[in-house]
Amino acid sequence: MQKETNTSSQSRTKKSKMSNNDGLQSSQLMKLFEDELKDLYWAEKALTKAIPKMIKYATSTELIDALESHLSETREQVTRLESVFNSIDKKAVAKKCEAMSGLIEEGQEIIEECEEGAMRDVGIISAAQKIEHYEIASYGTLRQFAETLNLPEAVDLLEQTLNEEKAADETLSEIAVPDINVQAAEQQVV
Ligand SMILES: [Fe+2]
Repeated sequence: MQKETNTSSQSRTKKSKMSNNDGLQSSQLMKLFEDELKDLYWAEKALTKAIPKMIKYATSTELIDALESHLSETREQVTRLESVFNSIDKKAVAKKCEAMSGLIEEGQEIIEECEEGAMRDVGIISAAQKIEHYEIASYGTLRQFAETLNLPEAVDLLEQTLNEEKAADETLSEIAVPDINVQAAEQQVV
């Protein structure tokens, strides 16, 4: 009897500790979610300025079309992130994302260093795909956080953008493989 009482009291203590931890973890996760949302908001805004530069230096019509279409998607993604902030009753705030800043800067260097034409197009695709992969990782993580935090509206919005980023990455791969990489390789041989 004594033993039973102890066990049940221990289990109550354990239960209450667990729920405290759950609450703490949930508020810490919420903070991380907000921080990463601010990073991504800065990143998308920065991309609305960086993509037009890529378009300006691209040669392939297919690449220009893909970048232009992703530029308009990116502008919508900025608005969509504002809706995510709104869904958690927070004001949309941008915080400099050092990773995206570095990726954009590196892309700029590639554009400057590559010879105009097919080679530069390959450079632009490579820079754009690194950016896409960073975004896919970020949106994937944020979507998962939103799910854990039980924020269905945020999950839905983040998933929409995640799918757009994946599609943009696939389009870039399709342009890269059959046409431009071959042209660039031929240029190198000559
Ligand atoms: Fe994006």
